Amino acid sequence: MKQERISQTALKVANSLVSLSAVDDWAQRLPAGLVEMSERLLVASGSPGYGQRLMELSKGPWMIRAWRFQDLMIPGQFEGFGHRKIYVQQQVEAAIENGARQVLFVGAGFDTLCLRLAPQLPHVQFIEVDHPATSAAKANGIERVGKPENMIQIAADLGERQLSQMLSEDGHWDTSVSSVLIAEGLLQYLADEEVRGLFVEAAACTSPGSRIVFTHANPGYSKWVTFLTSLIAERWKSSVASEDLPEYVEGTGWAIISDVDNDLAHGAERYAVAERR
Ligand SMILES: C[S@@+](CC[C@H](N)C(=O)[O-])C[C@H]1O[C@@H](n2cnc3c(N)ncnc32)[C@H](O)[C@@H]1O
Repeated sequence: MKQERISQTALKVANSLVSLSAVDDWAQRLPAGLVEMSERLLVASGSPGYGQRLMELSKGPWMIRAWRFQDLMIPGQFEGFGHRKIYVQQQVEAAIENGARQVLFVGAGFDTLCLRLAPQLPHVQFIEVDHPATSAAKANGIERVGKPENMIQIAADLGERQLSQMLSEDGHWDTSVSSVLIAEGLLQYLADEEVRGLFVEAAACTSPGSRIVFTHANPGYSKWVTFLTSLIAERWKSSVASEDLPEYVEGTGWAIISDVDNDLAHGAERYAVAERR
């Protein structure tokens, strides 16, 4: 993925949720405040093309038709983004209820979960990691929408710097505290060995009982995915079947605790949770 420019897929995911809120009962189904915060953040980030006018158009019939057209190439992906946001937030909230006191979102893009939960949970530290260009655009937006005191961003390329090293240099992370990590819509941009490396690094930064909530590409996704993602230089590089996950993460310090996900409504992705052993 080109890191010198803002991630187009990250912008696209956030914008798709604005569109989705105008479809059926999705406005009620999506986590509270998500749509409003996504709109405010996108506009405030100053990302080229993502102004107030686009937000208005996003809820209109033409834009929704465009997302539906994309579904012909990647079946289920439009509503899949909505399912993904609901799943991740539920799992993160469950982990916090279970004692997690730190949330680390790797490849956070323009997701608003940390921004929305941090003010409600002052006893939890929220940290986001993303490529420098995407991180800087989001920082612009966060400054304007209001930065929670217990939330920070780290701008770094996970392919170039080790997670443990960047967290220890930053100093906000405590490896002894129960934590929940999120890798949503990220792993497919890393090669298999990089994914495993990330899990190993994540284990080095966390205490037993910590969790990682993640999504991954389901093998056999259409050739259109490869074509479309390579067009914007954000090519998918890895995939794994949900039933193969236990073996995939074996030896990394994590064990899968979620059920096999074969839900076609999740589009080209599947969802999972692993626990630190
Ligand atoms: C498809 S977007 C998903 C964004 C967000 N997680 C969401 O679901 O809305 C993928 C994100 O991963 C980030 N990313 C991809 N490769 C990365 C890397 N090597 N280091 C840091 N961030 C990376 C991109 O910059 C982008 O923000």
